[in-house]
Amino acid sequence: MIKAIKGTKDILPDSIGKWKYVENIISSVFKYYNYSEIRTPIFEETLLFARGIGEATDIVGKEMYTFEDRSKTSVTLKPEMTASVVRAFIEHSLGKKHSLNKLYYISPMFRQERPQAGRLREFHQFGAEALGSSSPLLDVEMISMAYDILSGLGLKDLTIKINSLGTPESRKNYTQKLREYLKDKKHLLSGESKERIDKNILRIFDSKIDNDIEVMKDAPLLLDFLDNESKDNFEHVKSLLTSSNIPFEIDASLLRGLDYYTKTTFEIISGKVGSQDALCGGGRYDLLVEQFGGEPTPGTGFAAGIERILIACEKENSFVVPESSINLYIVCLEKMLISKAYELAQSIRRNNICVEMDYIGRSVKAQMREANKLNSEFVLFFGGEEYSEGKVQLKNMKNGTQELVKIENLVNKISGD
Ligand code: HAM
Repeated sequence: MIKAIKGTKDILPDSIGKWKYVENIISSVFKYYNYSEIRTPIFEETLLFARGIGEATDIVGKEMYTFEDRSKTSVTLKPEMTASVVRAFIEHSLGKKHSLNKLYYISPMFRQERPQAGRLREFHQFGAEALGSSSPLLDVEMISMAYDILSGLGLKDLTIKINSLGTPESRKNYTQKLREYLKDKKHLLSGESKERIDKNILRIFDSKIDNDIEVMKDAPLLLDFLDNESKDNFEHVKSLLTSSNIPFEIDASLLRGLDYYTKTTFEIISGKVGSQDALCGGGRYDLLVEQFGGEPTPGTGFAAGIERILIACEKENSFVVPESSINLYIVCLEKMLISKAYELAQSIRRNNICVEMDYIGRSVKAQMREANKLNSEFVLFFGGEEYSEGKVQLKNMKNGTQELVKIENLVNKISGD
């Protein structure tokens, strides 16, 4: 028996209602903020992610689904969207079409992590990227949109954490300090963290090894080494969040696991989902477009994991999906009329009315049971004496009334015209 690959999940019909509900809220919030949808391929050249996310990050170093295709090109299933959006932005000269591009996406992503609750190998992200402005208004817009979506889903136990990662200049001063701090502690670090000292010292903070965590606990903080530009951006973001009534905490240890960030970054944490508690994360990446060979273009964005959000919603019992229903169930009273019943179902469906009927030879009683199970608004009894006169019995299941209706008037009756 072949089973789904570890860390992947089928989304079955009985849970699709939840997904659609969440996706509707996501799209409508992005619409209010005037973001346009972008879709990019599921796989890209490996180099795009290696360069964009950073060679020394966990994502690139340990988690990517990378393989050679038949023409020996190294390709990778996308582990995140920012690099792909930036590639598409440059490739299609979007910056020339609009001076500010506000884009959003909902898409599967792939990371070969150790599966656990809230951590999958195929998971779904929604997110947004704004390319073309360094205004802190847009940093706050990202946090607002994420917060609106999560609150719109009824989530309450949320904490917004913000930090600033500065510019490369301020990071240079800081890494110097970090190097000094680690000078006499190197022997306490794991092999991987030792390697990171030269490769990308900031990534030592990503280590999940107890000794590394202990060593880094008292390390100097990047937030204390910010340049003026980053400080201004951070101050402005904080004051806008306060005036927009969005509660936040400053977390100087929030470094994010991707290398492209500059200035303000953020995460929204749920108090209900256990160890995988980050529902979303994002921040500014003012140098990424340039780094990929595009015209210098500042950017900011965020992404959120839908599976984690659904866990949080379940734990908080935050929304109830409206019960699904159909408009009409055709109960066929005589087996020989089944093709005629089908013709009628087809013609009514073409009027945007949701119609179901029996396809598996159920008895009249079983068809009625099915109509109830499907929560049908109306039931039509197809056949009987009046059928030869072009009329059928139509029962309104909400108020229990039943009337004889001419077949040509059914659509009007059902749609309430
Ligand atoms: P990220 O923090 O790597 O950021 O991922 C964003 C969110 O995706 C996480 O907060 C989490 O909810 C979800 N997520 C990540 N990995 C998994 C997993 N294995 N299983 C389930 N959910 C997961 C980014 O991806 C950046 N591209 C965000 C961004 C956009 N920054 C700027 N623009």
